[in-house]
Amino acid sequence: VSQVSVPTAPMGWASWNSFASKIDYDVIKAQVDAFVAAGLPAAGYKYINIDEGWWQGTRDSAGNITVDTSEWPGGMSAIADYIHSKGLKAGIYTDAGANGCGYYYPTGRPAAANTGSEGHYAQDMLQFSEWGFDFVKVDWCGGDAEGLDAATTYKSISSAVATAAATTGRPLTLSICNWGYQNTWNWATGLAPMWRTSTDIYYYGGTASQSAVLSNFDQTLHPAAQHTGYYNDPDMLTVGMSGLTAAQNRTHMALWAISGAPLLAGNDLTTMTSETAAILKNSDVVAVDQDARGLQGVKVAEDTTGLQVYSKVLAGTGNRAVVLLNRTSSAANITARWSDLGLTSASATVRDLWAQSNLGSYATSYTASVPAGGSVMLKVSGGTEASSTSYSATSTGKYT
Ligand code: DGJ
Repeated sequence: VSQVSVPTAPMGWASWNSFASKIDYDVIKAQVDAFVAAGLPAAGYKYINIDEGWWQGTRDSAGNITVDTSEWPGGMSAIADYIHSKGLKAGIYTDAGANGCGYYYPTGRPAAANTGSEGHYAQDMLQFSEWGFDFVKVDWCGGDAEGLDAATTYKSISSAVATAAATTGRPLTLSICNWGYQNTWNWATGLAPMWRTSTDIYYYGGTASQSAVLSNFDQTLHPAAQHTGYYNDPDMLTVGMSGLTAAQNRTHMALWAISGAPLLAGNDLTTMTSETAAILKNSDVVAVDQDARGLQGVKVAEDTTGLQVYSKVLAGTGNRAVVLLNRTSSAANITARWSDLGLTSASATVRDLWAQSNLGSYATSYTASVPAGGSVMLKVSGGTEASSTSYSATSTGKYT
């Protein structure tokens, strides 16, 4: 048993975007129930991740975390048990330093001092695993404030996670949340299956925005670090939150999928529209994210500034996911050329992934009109690999 046991990027829901620290057993239970009712498990989503706000910072004389049972009746194992009773996996949160983020940046509800795990890595990771948690996100506010070295610190945490998992026999997935500090992508593979690459996509009480989506997407592209089991994490999804149109929600989801990112919904599932549910659950788009090859998409063309073509090499031979992204303020044609995708000029099938319909066979390229600020997501399949291209599980995913 080890912490690195996730072949494709984790999918689920996380509490931070919609609830910040205003969480308790009832809030999480309501989300679990809505998650199941919306059919998210059948679409591949399985984690329910409790973010900051569950712990008030007190420990007993043996140093064990003390939980406020007025908010979490039965302690944290009760909510983990409830999540497991629905066939799902449970996630929890801590900080690498002495204090959690809410101590430095009071959001939603200020946190007391000492809501971090510094000095208690082995004890806390074992506690989380004994409570039944399957996933732990370890934040960096305390680590940052104390000037800790990120690579060294997360190496200790990763080893504590592995020891805890070996002790309980329950796999524990580590999520490194240090926002790309100190070039996380250069040292995080091997320590955890996912690591954040930027600061937060959304701040509680604000509105979601396409500019935050695009900024986090741009910062997450480190294809050399990504392969099956190791994922750059551009942060939780803001799909379905106020501030984004349906088209912007689709672009958000398309960009996370082509980068093979963890898909952790962050919207309030109890008020989710059927349109948002359909975006999160689109099986063609989710399949791109979860592709077995585990590569990250890369930008392969930008003939005119802001008119971009992203491509991800998929499992099999001659298959690519493609996003045509128009970052300009006017509608424009964008062309995916097979040569830019690492394919020869030979017939390939093009599928519109949002419409889930095949568009036909094309010999050298496919051009679509893309609305201002919008995107088109395609799958090109059955193409012929250019003779010089070969993509292994550790490939950078670049096409030359
Ligand atoms: C900063 C992280 O980047 C967020 O995802 C969230 O966990 C907050 N901290 C919690 O305070």
